[in-house]
Amino acid sequence: MFSKNTLLAGMDARVRIGMVGPEQQDLLIEMYDQYEPLGMALGLPPRTAAARREWILSALDQKVNVAAFSPAGEVVGHCFLAADEPHSAELAIFIRQEFRRRGIGSALVIAALERGGAAGLRRVWTMTPSGNRPALQLQKNCGFRVMKSVYPADELEIDLPLRRAALEMR
Ligand SMILES: CC(C)(COP(=O)(O)OP(=O)(O)OC[C@H]1O[C@@H](n2cnc3c(N)ncnc32)[C@H](O)[C@@H]1OP(=O)(O)O)[C@@H](O)C(=O)NCCC(=O)NCCS
Repeated sequence: MFSKNTLLAGMDARVRIGMVGPEQQDLLIEMYDQYEPLGMALGLPPRTAAARREWILSALDQKVNVAAFSPAGEVVGHCFLAADEPHSAELAIFIRQEFRRRGIGSALVIAALERGGAAGLRRVWTMTPSGNRPALQLQKNCGFRVMKSVYPADELEIDLPLRRAALEMR
């Protein structure tokens, strides 16, 4: 089981985590306009502005969307759960390059999983390129288990709601 306290202790304290919805669409468009590298996570985020906008709007249709806000109010990270089957969703997580390795990705994933559990999800899964060490390590740190590891991608999943002991570590 992951230790939520340990995971979140290292997060940049100036960054705020909060839910986002269609009202924040322009902030998300700005984040992804500055995001690099585009297209590297199995084609995401889309490389063209028009495709990115469409993808952001469809992400914002999902029930669980959380973002990290800089002190200046910019969105510097975004995580959402894309529902596929009843009670199941795929995780998507993107942190703007200058803000990586500050614990923001871990904090966003935990926030999304907590909200997903509260919204009735029972399982969240990911399909991650085998060479994407940061994403795979983050997911394992957060409690995901590897279901299938067949090059060029690894499939991981986690059961929701997060286990009580982990939540008590707030
Ligand atoms: C993967 C990603 C979301 C991680 O976000 P982050 O905010 O940097 O993650 P955290 O700071 O919470 O780091 C969590 C752990 O992940 C691992 N990690 C993060 N970046 C890493 C790197 N460059 N190399 C190796 N491990 C790394 C580490 O174990 C890290 O813990 P540590 O800093 O104590 O060593 C970010 O690198 C990203 O946006 N990548 C591009 C998009 C992507 O691949 N998304 C996943 C598929 S949708």
